[in-house]
Amino acid sequence: MAFRAPRIAPSQITPPDTYLGRRAFLAGALGAGAGAAIGRAGAAVVAARAGTPLQYTDDAAESVDALVHAPDQNEKPNTWAQITGYNNYYEFGTGKSDPAQYAGSLQTRPWSVAVDGEAQITGSFPLEEFLKPYALEERIYRFRCVEAWSMVIPWVGFPLAQMLKRFKPTSRAKYVAFETLYRPGQMPGQRERILDWPYREGLRIDEAMNPLAFMVVGLYGRVLPNQSGAPLRLIVPWKYGFKGIKAIVRIVFTEAQPSTTWSEAAPDEYGFYANVNPNVPHPRWSQATERRIGNPFFHERQATLMFNGYADEVAYLYKGMNLHRYF
Ligand code: MTE
Repeated sequence: MAFRAPRIAPSQITPPDTYLGRRAFLAGALGAGAGAAIGRAGAAVVAARAGTPLQYTDDAAESVDALVHAPDQNEKPNTWAQITGYNNYYEFGTGKSDPAQYAGSLQTRPWSVAVDGEAQITGSFPLEEFLKPYALEERIYRFRCVEAWSMVIPWVGFPLAQMLKRFKPTSRAKYVAFETLYRPGQMPGQRERILDWPYREGLRIDEAMNPLAFMVVGLYGRVLPNQSGAPLRLIVPWKYGFKGIKAIVRIVFTEAQPSTTWSEAAPDEYGFYANVNPNVPHPRWSQATERRIGNPFFHERQATLMFNGYADEVAYLYKGMNLHRYF
C-alpha cells in the first residue's frame, strides 16, 4: 500500500536558544517555511572547534539544492543534549554516553579526505579544500537506529551526490565506500577488537546519488561535535543509523560491493542495504516499532515506517528486489 511519508518542516524546530542558551543559529534559517531549502548561498567554512556556529563565505561554487519537505505536525526535533548525549561510536566505547565522554580527545584538524578508485579525479584533499565548493543546507531527518530507537535531527551539510559528481566517477563505479579514521591513540575503542577497524560503510552508486543522502558537517547550525562524527559524516535517512559512518577519511569508488563493518561482523543481523523496514525483523527483535528518544513515556513505541518514511523518494531504488534477502 502506498502512503505519503510524513515530513518534518524546518519551521517546526524549537529555537535552539532553548537548548544552547544563546542565539547562534544561522540568521533566518529557523524562520524558513516548509518547502524551503534553508541552506545559505555560501561555501562551507567549518571551524575546527565543535559547537561553534557554522559560517559561510560568498563564493560557493554550487547553489543550494532545494528539497521540499512538507510539514508533519507530530514530530519535533530532538534537543542538542539528546542528540549529542546518546550516541553509538564504538571507537570511543560501546556505551551510549561513552562518545560524549571520550570523543573530545579526537583531533579533527588537520584533517584530509582521500578519494580513490573508479573516478577521474582522485587524490588527498585537505578538509578545507574538500568542503569549499558546497553550500550548506539544513535537513531535518528522522534517524532510526537498528536497535529500534529513533530521533529527529537537524543536520547541516550538503548532498552526497554533489560531492561524488565532483570526482567524476567512471562507468565502472557501481558502489561508493567510506572509511573512518584509524587512530587508536585518540580513539580508545580501536585499541580493542570490538570491531574490525577502521569502520567501513558503503552504498550502491544510485543510492548515493539520491538527493536525500547527505554529507554532514553540522548540527543545529553549529560545528558537529566529535561524538556526532566530526568533522565529516554520512547520513542516509532511509537506512539504519549504522550506515551513517562518522569521521570519514577515505572515499573509494568501486566496481564490486565493498565490505562493510557491521555486515561482516554479523552477516545474519546486519545487511549491506540496511534499509529501514518494519516488515523485516532483526533476528533478535522486531523492527515494526521504535522508541523515540525523549518521549517522556519511556515504554511508548511508535510504528516504524517503510524506508523510515522516505518511501516516496527512495522506493524506486529497490524495485523488484527481495528485501527479505537483501536486508
Ligand atoms: N561510525 C563509526 N565510525 N563508528 C561507529 O561505531 N556507529 C554507527 C553510526 N556511525 C558508528 C558510526 C551507528 S550503529 C549509529 S546508530 C550511528 O552512527 C549513530 O549516530 P549518532 O551517534 O550521531 O546518533
